[in-house]
Amino acid sequence: MDIPLSITLPWQQEQPAPAFTEDTDKFPESLPRYFIEKLAPQKNARIFDPFMGLGTTGFVAEELGRTPYGIEHDRMRCEWVAGQLEHWMNIQCDDAADMDKLGLPKMDLCVTSPPFMPKHHKWNPLYGGDPDYAGYDAYLKRMGFIFGKLAKQMKRNSFTVIHADNLTHGTVYTPLVRDLSLLMERFMALKAEMIINWDNAKPDYPHTHCLVFKNA
Ligand SMILES: C[S@@+](CC[C@H](N)C(=O)[O-])C[C@H]1O[C@@H](n2cnc3c(N)ncnc32)[C@H](O)[C@@H]1O
Repeated sequence: MDIPLSITLPWQQEQPAPAFTEDTDKFPESLPRYFIEKLAPQKNARIFDPFMGLGTTGFVAEELGRTPYGIEHDRMRCEWVAGQLEHWMNIQCDDAADMDKLGLPKMDLCVTSPPFMPKHHKWNPLYGGDPDYAGYDAYLKRMGFIFGKLAKQMKRNSFTVIHADNLTHGTVYTPLVRDLSLLMERFMALKAEMIINWDNAKPDYPHTHCLVFKNA
């Protein structure tokens, strides 16, 4: 499989985000569409997103004749997504860390964007800000735990695409793409660190990153 290191995709949010949240939580539909067509060409392939958010991966999977599966912790988001999908019964309002307890089948492709945490924050998004799990180290530890479960959820030789951005806040730099890659490389082989250039980009967001892994 030839995976390019850099591509250009349109920056366009085709499906509007619901009023209860902000548009920036969604990635453009062009991103999951590119990876689903390239890495899961078979119709009815099972496409998984354990951090489903506003459901972009799931909506595109269904549009392309694939079968979406997803997990989302935030009940309002989860119910909003499930309410619009034909495969609503494949969407679980739960914690991705419990994916092995949800009776999910093995997946053909994962395209996901985990919650991003900058180093200088204490609020850990994976625990809804619980102070017992504050800080970047606790966040990375939990992401590693979830990635281990994700690898077991994927079929042999399947691909997993992790979307992430490095974060800059004043003088504090968070190399999130590198850190997530190092965690995932414990379980799957890294095949590419792709740069996705946005056509029609917002001035402060010209490109993003997708890490492509293959399961053994
Ligand atoms: C960056 S957003 C995903 C956006 C998505 N790619 C889209 O286009 O709509 C990450 C999502 O992960 C969810 N999340 C955070 N912790 C979670 C957990 N432990 N299990 C499942 N979902 C979680 C957040 O509520 C958020 O909606």
